[in-house]
Amino acid sequence: MIEKIKALLDETAHLLASNTEELEALRIKYLSKKGLIAALMDDFRNVPSDQKREVGMMLNELKQQTQDKILSLKEQFENTNTGHAETDLSRTAYPIPLGTRHPLSIVKEEICDIFKRLGFSIAEGPEIEDDWHVFSSLNFAEDHPARDMQDTFFIQSNPEVVLRTHTSSVQTRVMERTQPPIRIICPGRVYRNEAISYRAHCFFHQVEALYVDKDVSFADLKQALLFFAKEMFGENTKIRLRPSYFPFTEPSAEMDISCNICGGEGCPFCKYTGWVEILGCGMVDPNVLENCGIDSKIYSGYALGMGIERITNLKYQVKDLRMFSENDKRFLEEFQSAH
Ligand code: DAH
Repeated sequence: MIEKIKALLDETAHLLASNTEELEALRIKYLSKKGLIAALMDDFRNVPSDQKREVGMMLNELKQQTQDKILSLKEQFENTNTGHAETDLSRTAYPIPLGTRHPLSIVKEEICDIFKRLGFSIAEGPEIEDDWHVFSSLNFAEDHPARDMQDTFFIQSNPEVVLRTHTSSVQTRVMERTQPPIRIICPGRVYRNEAISYRAHCFFHQVEALYVDKDVSFADLKQALLFFAKEMFGENTKIRLRPSYFPFTEPSAEMDISCNICGGEGCPFCKYTGWVEILGCGMVDPNVLENCGIDSKIYSGYALGMGIERITNLKYQVKDLRMFSENDKRFLEEFQSAH
């Protein structure tokens, strides 16, 4: 009997179970009414009386040890499975790493919010586009250089299918299916066949805005631009419009803002001019309206487009465009406190 108990003491001290089913099997084997320990208890009657005291104590120890062992194994499963571990209140709190929003997302939302306050709503379109929406509907001549393989990614098997080179494609998608008034902003990713360097990447992000209604004039455009510039870069920001050319707007302009780094005094960032270019804009070319089934004798509109990376660089002075897509945590964590 004593030998049996000793063997079981040794055995139960080293019990192992890898899941709750195995643990239950152990409990049944040792501790149930028909288990090994209960059987020994039954046998206790037959122990000679001079040994009863010693055997009794050993049996109790065996039972206790087995119960404790099974309980501790059970706790171990509960800890790993459900997390309901006994809470150690003295333990130091460990930091929970919080993710940060990407600077481009922060700025994109800020741009969209400003236009939303002017009554614009968000519109989106596909990144894989067709030639019509990216070029033809927007008045690009057949031999326009932007259509060149050098600038545009084409889907090899079908030259009609391209990765959009600008978010202006969303303009025509919306105009084709909606009659004015139209007031949309279109944020999104665009692709160009550029060699990657600190100032160019093969993909980047733009926000396009389009307003079409009766009697929309260049003055409306200018007012919206001034509002945007002041909201984005501060009340003292000045704007300047320079004549430019885009196939889809007539007249076209590029907008500069007073350099927000030196306040217009002149610094390396603005190449000592006091001004930095931030977007392209203009009155929607009547051809574009007609291409989309909008009567250009009744309606007019303005459009503008800007690069989100450019605006982000101006706000946060990021010197190397590649940092936006490298996912370096040290860079991203710098925007922790940006809202
Ligand atoms: N799509 C132009 C680009 O990618 C930007 C642009 C210029 C958009 C003038 C416009 C605009 O809507 O009116 O460079």
